Amino acid sequence: MPTTRFVSIILKEPCKDTVHSPSPNVPPREAYVVLFDNATNSCFEAEISLTSSSILSWKHVPGVQPTMTIDEQVECEQAVLASAEFKAALKRHYGTDDTSLVMVDIWSAGNYGSDEDRTRRLARPLCFSRRDPTDNGYARPIEGLRPVVDLNTMQVIRVDEHGHWPLPPLECNYAADRVPNQRRDIKPLEITQTAGPSFEVHGHEVRWQNWSFVIGFNAREGLTLHHIRYNDAGCDRSILYRASLTEMVVPYGDPAETQRRKNAFDVGEYGMGMCANSLELGCDCLGHIHYFDADLVTSRGEPLTIKNAICMHEEDYGILWKHTDRRLNVPEVRRSRRLVISSVSTVENYEYGFFWYLYQDGNIQLEVKLTGILSLGTLHPNERAKYGTLIAPQLYAPNHQHFFNVRLDFDLDGSANTVQQVDLVADEIGPDNPFENAFQAKGTILKSETQARVQLNAATSRTWKIINPDVRNAVGDPVGYKFLPGDNAFPMASSNAWWRKRAGFVNYHVWVTPFHEEERFGAGDYPNQSIGGDGLIRWTQADRPIQSTDVVFWYTMGHTHVPRPEDYPVMPTAYIGFTLKPAGFFNMNPANDVPPSPKQQHSCCH
Ligand code: CO
Repeated sequence: MPTTRFVSIILKEPCKDTVHSPSPNVPPREAYVVLFDNATNSCFEAEISLTSSSILSWKHVPGVQPTMTIDEQVECEQAVLASAEFKAALKRHYGTDDTSLVMVDIWSAGNYGSDEDRTRRLARPLCFSRRDPTDNGYARPIEGLRPVVDLNTMQVIRVDEHGHWPLPPLECNYAADRVPNQRRDIKPLEITQTAGPSFEVHGHEVRWQNWSFVIGFNAREGLTLHHIRYNDAGCDRSILYRASLTEMVVPYGDPAETQRRKNAFDVGEYGMGMCANSLELGCDCLGHIHYFDADLVTSRGEPLTIKNAICMHEEDYGILWKHTDRRLNVPEVRRSRRLVISSVSTVENYEYGFFWYLYQDGNIQLEVKLTGILSLGTLHPNERAKYGTLIAPQLYAPNHQHFFNVRLDFDLDGSANTVQQVDLVADEIGPDNPFENAFQAKGTILKSETQARVQLNAATSRTWKIINPDVRNAVGDPVGYKFLPGDNAFPMASSNAWWRKRAGFVNYHVWVTPFHEEERFGAGDYPNQSIGGDGLIRWTQADRPIQSTDVVFWYTMGHTHVPRPEDYPVMPTAYIGFTLKPAGFFNMNPANDVPPSPKQQHSCCH
């Protein structure tokens, strides 16, 4: 049995200077590899030239635990199910040692300062018991038993026992063949595109109306977008060099013994790309769909293709703009169409959909869709949940938050960009403001990293504007794009909480850094079992200047989830995201040239 695992093999993206170089040379093809040796509990990084089939660099990274692999998820479950100690615990609590209906979800171990947290590659799985082989097992959490697994030896070290709870009494299913009495009053709604889609695809390069961009995908971040550009009346203008999800964390707010260590870093610990769905069968998009495969590797280095991991299609999005000249009585209305680029990942019980939208008016939007099954716990009969919501008899969903960190590497008409924080402020009452109605947008140029670390502010409708001071629009202002935050939250746990030390990116909603090739992940390269302090929180201590430079804008968004019975058995999708809006980037509404849609045969619009 080999002891080396390939955590990931991904494209080593060519350096920016090469990409921006006017010479047409194709850059050498290189891969970046993270390896882990189970025999020596050590992590290695390598850079490989695929052009010359040679190792360009090889580095031992001491004291870190890289992302857990899908193979480890599977093997960890098998190890627990085969463990004599686990079977004995099951027998003591439930009177049977039959593990055939038990599900074991790997769950990262975190780091709580113990020797084993520091010195072993660990998982602390959560276990569930199905009623029958296709039952929804998450409805029956095995509360009070948490195996601790050494992922190097793939052995159960011990089973932590925190008490005994009988399994919740009721089942609750969602599969089509297990939900009787499905509604029968839905008529078909079909979207057809008889002339095909309006996009063109060449490899991973996409053109759609005036937009062009490149699609990327890797084991850790999942879907990434590159070179987002807009053809503005014949002028090919750059907007974003690269856009990606860098990290996320789901901290639970329940101090109960089985629950207190739950805080999943779904990017750095699980690999959002590794957990991506094949949308071949499970894609529910309508219209003409173009799929892209994701090429990954197993932990033994075998090629692993996730067929149709990325879905791209066009959507009708209601009214783009409208005006009726009352005197002419001629309505001018345009329908909005957006291009959707999406992927969905299943991280054990939960689903995350990442949906990037490009619009005809220059808007770029990211919408994260949260669905799947809540992480549930078991209560005693008649017990209420102080730190969660009772959703079925003896079954509760602990309160938790989901924090996402997104990295936006802007290249607005060139690399040298500046970020302004924009706050709306009411003028002082006085002779210049006699009607007490005046307010203005105050832009503050962010000059350094520590100045740029800030929170949202509803009182000033705070937004941000990324500008290129050297490129002026028709009215003489710097060209810019506005960052509009969506829903957000503040972390509820104390800043001393163990998970927060590893998730410094939640300390502020916005961070701005000067571009550095190696600064890619908000919680650092190796958050799994780390002691923390890495990533944005460490880099920005240098307080580097960020004005008129190649800026990277980082946004942290939090969704606070106080669960409802309606989130069970599967949670209706919740949404969180942000929008980038051109603000003086164009000279006027760039969608003014969108033609009217053909009239419908049977008009029923009012
Ligand atoms: Co949630």
